[in-house]
Amino acid sequence: MTSESSVLTDDVLSAEHISIGFRRRRRAPVFQALDDVSLTVARGRTVGLVGESGSGKSTFAKAVLGLLPVDRGRITVAGHDVDGKHPDHRRLARHVQAVFQDPGGSLNPSYTVGRSIAEPLLAQAGMSRSEVLPAVTQALERVGLEPDAAQRLPRHFSGGQRQRICIARALVVAPELVVCDEAVSALDLSVQAQVLNLLMDLQDETGLSYLFISHDMNVVRRLCDDVTVLYRGQVMEQGPTRSVTSAPAHPYTRSLLLASPVADPTAQAERRAAAGRVPAVAAETATEAGTRCPFAARCPVATEVCRVERPPLREVPGGVSVACHRYPEWQHEIPPVPSGDAHPTGVRDAGVHLNNKEIN
Ligand SMILES: Nc1ncnc2c1ncn2[C@@H]1O[C@H](COP(=O)(O)OP(=O)(O)OP(=O)(O)O)[C@@H](O)[C@H]1O
Ligand code: SF4
Ligand SMILES: [Mg+2]
Repeated sequence: MTSESSVLTDDVLSAEHISIGFRRRRRAPVFQALDDVSLTVARGRTVGLVGESGSGKSTFAKAVLGLLPVDRGRITVAGHDVDGKHPDHRRLARHVQAVFQDPGGSLNPSYTVGRSIAEPLLAQAGMSRSEVLPAVTQALERVGLEPDAAQRLPRHFSGGQRQRICIARALVVAPELVVCDEAVSALDLSVQAQVLNLLMDLQDETGLSYLFISHDMNVVRRLCDDVTVLYRGQVMEQGPTRSVTSAPAHPYTRSLLLASPVADPTAQAERRAAAGRVPAVAAETATEAGTRCPFAARCPVATEVCRVERPPLREVPGGVSVACHRYPEWQHEIPPVPSGDAHPTGVRDAGVHLNNKEIN
């Protein structure tokens, strides 16, 4: 990240045409983990990045955090270039922080909570030890924990509380962007709702932005303003969450929605029937990636063109972009996603908010 290359923009994150490939063995073909992915997060907004396991979500997160160089494309955070080859982590960490899935693994078990939260302040904000204590206390209060939590070790807290500690540590340096990589996936539904409510409350309070990575459409539906759907490293569909989840333009988005649980067992059974069986597919190499639709082998409405030509990402009504040769015809060939209330995650309706100290 360099100040010389900063640009004036209201996008806290801008990623343009990002490609990242891995060679799993020497001389093995390059496996394309991300292929021409573009995405922006505006100030104060939440953008979801969804896709099943192996679709490239964490690879994208690592590139944004300067932990992985890109082969092609450009990433800027708060107007500054992220140079994954020669990252200035100290500088970058002032603008972007991360919260990961496993709060146990992200916190050093032998450090007190206070020390874990203080670390970024000492390392990035250049604060003295006497300035740090009030900042740690304030950070704990903002996530609904008592100040005396600072003296205790992570093992004395529940999973939800540990995730609050990770959020406090991420926010303590007042970053513009927080990357949440499956941040609530390991939590029970009720605790998940509380942590999501906390994230939304903190956003209302501070105007920060989230890149929210998840495989769960229900969570994304509740939290995200916009969503990007990734499949095997490529963008399948992108746009306002409401449009994408109410009338998916891509058959893969439809299948993700069908896979997300709903409260009513009858509706759940209908969804399973509508989803049908889809075969697993092996990873694509860089050479294969450009020659067909990556979803063709699983797609219930694929035709010959899908197997010989990669569909470009194109704009369609509703502010949505979709990479499908057969949009919108396919929508008349298979049933839409049956309605049904999403599984009751209770976000914003139940659970606790900032001022309520009864937390899990
Ligand atoms: N360092 C690496 N070397 C080789 N392959 C890698 C490396 N990192 C990731 N991959 C591969 O890239 C693909 C994308 O991985 P990634 O972790 O980004 O997926 P993901 O969408 O985060 O999946 P999950 O939901 O399981 O976390 C996977 O097939 C993974 O095996
Ligand atoms: S391009 Fe073809 S295979 Fe790909 S999602 Fe559209 S219809 Fe299915
Ligand atoms: Mg991941």
